[in-house]
Amino acid sequence: MIKHDTIEKNLGLMALLMVIAVSIGGLTQIVPLFFEDVTNNPVEGMKPRSALELEGRDIYIANGCVGCHSQMIRPFRAETERYGHYSVAGESVWDHPFLWGSKRTGPDLARVGGRYSDDWHHAHLYNPRNVVPESIMPAYPFLVERTLDGKDTAKKMEVLRTLGVPYTDADIAGAKDAVKGKTEMDALVAYLQGLGTLIKSKR
Ligand code: HEC
Repeated sequence: MIKHDTIEKNLGLMALLMVIAVSIGGLTQIVPLFFEDVTNNPVEGMKPRSALELEGRDIYIANGCVGCHSQMIRPFRAETERYGHYSVAGESVWDHPFLWGSKRTGPDLARVGGRYSDDWHHAHLYNPRNVVPESIMPAYPFLVERTLDGKDTAKKMEVLRTLGVPYTDADIAGAKDAVKGKTEMDALVAYLQGLGTLIKSKR
């Protein structure tokens, strides 16, 4: 039996025992989440993103939207009053990588789908000052000039399928045509309109 003062006087031993103690605490909280249905199964009625929404998501990532917008409504009154039902894990199971974010220069977007019209989003992304005069969000006018060729869309879906997103062969076969000729603006707006619509807010 090691006496406590032996531990206190031996820095290496104390550090080791601290790491063991903290790991046990951490592991008992984290490991069960890997096996629980609520964190692994999609919420009811969830469908994989369409080809266009998937491209929109990549445009969202490429333009750094996640640097100013979170997609994670926390279960606090102030958040649910403003943004709707708090986010649940089952809504993110097919997101690789997830885009929960941690910075909110702008509002949370986890449930922005359906909150505005497509036209509003077009005007806003083209220049946010068009619709929100005091906005400090950057303008993205070039999105309407860039056209998608859909060259890699099917491949992206195949990769996501290996990670468990249930795309069908038909989804993959039709991906290129679903995307080709659309602008980056179309894709990004389609993505935004699909965000968080499955769980309705009580507002
Ligand atoms: C420099 C920070 C910043 C970046 C980068 C940014 N935004 Fe914003 N965004 C804001 C701010 C601030 C607002 C609130 C004012 C407004 O509505 O324009 C906002 C508002 C929004 C809204 C309206 C949300 C609501 O509920 O009213 C949407 C949608 C949005 N941004 C999408 C995007 C997308 C998509 C991108 C990437 C192409 C992006 N933002 C990049 C700061 C940013």
